Amino acid sequence: MSYENAWLTYRMRQDSRDKKYFSKVYAEDESIVAVTAVKELERAGREILGVRMEQAGCAAEAGICLRLVSDPAIGEEGYQLREEEGCITISSEGARGLLYGSFALIRRLQMELPLEGLCMLETPSNPLRMLNHWDNMDGSIERGYSGNSFFFKDEKVIVDERTRAYARMAASVGINASVINNVNVRGNATKLITEEYGKELREMSEIFAEYGIRLFLSLNFAAPMELGGLDSADPLDGQVAAWWKDTMEDIFRRIPNLGGFLVKADSEGRPGPFTYGRTHADGANVLADAAAPYGGIIIWRCFVYNCQQDWRDRKTDRARAGYDNFMPLDGKFRDNVILQIKNGPMDFQVREPVSSLLGGLTDTNQILEVQIAQEYTGQQRHVCYLIPMFKEILGFHTYCCGGQDTVADIVSGRTWGQKSCGMAAVANTGNDDNWTGHDLAAANLYGFGRLSFQTDAGARELAEEWAACTFGNDRVVTETVTKILMMSWPAYEKYTAPLGIGWMVNPNHHYGPNVDGYEYDRWGTYHRADHLGLGIDRSRQGTGYAQQYRKENADLYEDIKTCPEELLLFFHYIPYTYRLKSGKTLIQHIYDTHFEGAGDVESMDILWSSLEGKIPERVYKRVKERLEHQKEHSKEWRDQINTYFFRKSMIPDEKGRQIY
Ligand code: GCU
Repeated sequence: MSYENAWLTYRMRQDSRDKKYFSKVYAEDESIVAVTAVKELERAGREILGVRMEQAGCAAEAGICLRLVSDPAIGEEGYQLREEEGCITISSEGARGLLYGSFALIRRLQMELPLEGLCMLETPSNPLRMLNHWDNMDGSIERGYSGNSFFFKDEKVIVDERTRAYARMAASVGINASVINNVNVRGNATKLITEEYGKELREMSEIFAEYGIRLFLSLNFAAPMELGGLDSADPLDGQVAAWWKDTMEDIFRRIPNLGGFLVKADSEGRPGPFTYGRTHADGANVLADAAAPYGGIIIWRCFVYNCQQDWRDRKTDRARAGYDNFMPLDGKFRDNVILQIKNGPMDFQVREPVSSLLGGLTDTNQILEVQIAQEYTGQQRHVCYLIPMFKEILGFHTYCCGGQDTVADIVSGRTWGQKSCGMAAVANTGNDDNWTGHDLAAANLYGFGRLSFQTDAGARELAEEWAACTFGNDRVVTETVTKILMMSWPAYEKYTAPLGIGWMVNPNHHYGPNVDGYEYDRWGTYHRADHLGLGIDRSRQGTGYAQQYRKENADLYEDIKTCPEELLLFFHYIPYTYRLKSGKTLIQHIYDTHFEGAGDVESMDILWSSLEGKIPERVYKRVKERLEHQKEHSKEWRDQINTYFFRKSMIPDEKGRQIY
């Protein structure tokens, strides 16, 4: 399988303005990561400026100088770039900072931004910036839309050229941790913590280490039984604890660069502490104690809910489950445990409120989990640039304290002073040539990395950066691609499930419209539509979910009048004739947005077509083909949703458009 270089596709520049800097480099640090930084600068110099960079004998001779400094304002992963008298100095307290600084400089080179007088300081917003791959050992990827795994094939671990290409791409946007296997750990994946896969994993971790990335593995909570032959995985059983202790000692010895483990327990059929009447703190802590001597971290997912619900039951609410299960445990986890919380209380829908756990927990390390694999947002066949959504989530005020109370504040550690916290994304990569299936989906991978490094970066700004680096610095191309990206999430939201209700998809694979697909199922995902209206009452009279938020937000969501309209059906049952702030009835809003959304896709397609000849033909065609599909598929969505609600309500479209 071949692969491309995504946003690290370098193009030779015609001007010679910046050549002088790239003639000689001097690095004060000789660590493997600093060596990588120098190699990257050399490559960029060669491929963008056509210069052969030499090593300078001292800083005074260099055009670029990598310096290790002692400056807490920069820190180990932060960097300062400063141009003075023909020399660019990249300074950091650590080698990773030097690498990130080098990539930032290369980005400026790609974008042809001036280097003269350059003076910038950037420090990462989040300590952990992770990718979570849901790759299986047979090579398939759960919710993968870009081919097969490049980590596993035929029950084996793959370490090849692409491993390095991946690490390089991830590091170029500031990723410093990667979980390579699916959270649903079954079969041979359980054995990844044994000797059997030790050699390959060590090799992979060493390649990752060159790029400052720590390798993590997903863990099977029942491993003491499946591998150790014990008759229980009870976290409070001494034998189980001893087994974990030995296992951790072995694996950290074999793979010194291992960061730790990600655990999905008591979730969608995976084993966990509930089997033994224990809490999730008991479960996480036994692993944390065993991993602590090696600096290992246990990342414990909060995606714990009853997936055997009865649709007739209107009181049980899946949205409540995370908070109900984990709030009572706040403060009970070891320091090296981090709870990983999905951005919304349900599951990566196109629109959800922010999880009530974020802002609820005050005494527990937290990671925000988002999904760039577009499971519910078009599966990388539709364009859906998710960074604007992530910006809204990060900017959400939880009112958990007087001052720094946004989700960005909480997961960065600013709110509660935590050091182990950050952001994770369920990755959208695979072994397709372009890594992400849809070429424009790479903007989500790029954007996630950059955003997790710098949460105050703008969604548009990141789209522009990505477009310029990927397609070359042509203003028309950058503006057009950015326009498409910025339209795409709102468009997708418009033509799919309305006003925060979600879930109107085909069961299992989750692609395409099916309004009642999950309505009489066991997953806790209902819309409750009847002939008068639709939506879930999550106020006090209903499931009470709204009350899990801090007072300011609880009050807001509780009341139909103040509830943000984009979440109206998530929190309330609303009659079709209810008038929204726009003056439209709910049913008319549904019709209008669905026509609009499908129209927006037509506009995106026209915009893309205008780029023919301006970007490589292969890429142009790949995207064009997907846009053609999206155009048809968005109409399918429009017509199924509109027809369904017309047939339920029997209220005609005021504008007399065709509804079936
Ligand atoms: C979703 C997804 C599953 C995944 C799960 C998870 O339910 O459909 O494939 O395993 O999330 O996050 O664990």
